[in-house]
Amino acid sequence: MEASAGYRHIDCASTYNNEAQIGEALSPAINAGLVVRRDIFVTSKLWNTDHATARVRQACLKSLKELQLDFLDLYLMHWPVSGNRGPTVEPGIRETWEAMQSLVDEGFVRSIGVSNFSIKKMQDILAYTRLPLSVCQVEIHPYHRNDQLIAWCRSQGVHVTAYSPLGSPDSATMFKREAPVLLQDPVLARIAASLGKSPAQVLIRWALQHGTSVLPKSTSPARIQANLEVFDWHMPADDFAELSALQPQMRMVDGSFWLHPAGPYKTLQDFWNE
Ligand code: A2P
Repeated sequence: MEASAGYRHIDCASTYNNEAQIGEALSPAINAGLVVRRDIFVTSKLWNTDHATARVRQACLKSLKELQLDFLDLYLMHWPVSGNRGPTVEPGIRETWEAMQSLVDEGFVRSIGVSNFSIKKMQDILAYTRLPLSVCQVEIHPYHRNDQLIAWCRSQGVHVTAYSPLGSPDSATMFKREAPVLLQDPVLARIAASLGKSPAQVLIRWALQHGTSVLPKSTSPARIQANLEVFDWHMPADDFAELSALQPQMRMVDGSFWLHPAGPYKTLQDFWNE
């Protein structure tokens, strides 16, 4: 659906458990000439339990097999977490990163990057990497602008991709906590009405004007189509500024599920280095 609607950036991860279905959709589209492989950009992500050197290669090959591709455009370390929630600290990020560099050497992936990393954790990688840290994918929307991280990434040539651009409407239920619903923000509603767009379209357009790539996710064909209709109009500067001043500023996907008293991350401050 996404490819035929016109999407060209397909964001996957082994933990989403849908790479085989994506392969089943993508491969016929490529074979039928509906889309050319070089025109699409496929990302996948390495899961926490696959951080050991030997597992990195296996995990990447599994994703490639399921996606029916012979290379990924981008492979990201999904979280700065080795193992799952708990005290596991081995291997460290460096070992995993070095194994990911080998995937580039072998031609399995074109570029590598990280997701859910802080500036500090990326600085550590930049101190030893021999290949570019190409992309950082993090949560970004008007309730979590992440401007400091974006500015730092820009200064280092790290491209930023925004996930949950609609404010992660499912997080509150998923993580069982109170959180404001960005899609229902009254300022957003007013701006959307004045522009004749949906609140979701305004948020996706805000992300583009904010200068990042953007990953709108939907299971609904109508929304998949509508979320793409953001390229032939521009949000006026005052509307952009008003959305960029919304409060509160908070992560919806805050990583608290990785904290553990015996682990490397005991607090959110440890996790995000803030
Ligand atoms: P749906 O799949 O029913 O369209 P995330 O923040 O993790 O990226 O999740 C995106 C969420 O936003 C999904 O729950 C998705 O639900 C919802 N969504 C996607 N597009 C729209 C839209 N145009 N209007 C309202 N909700 C949307």
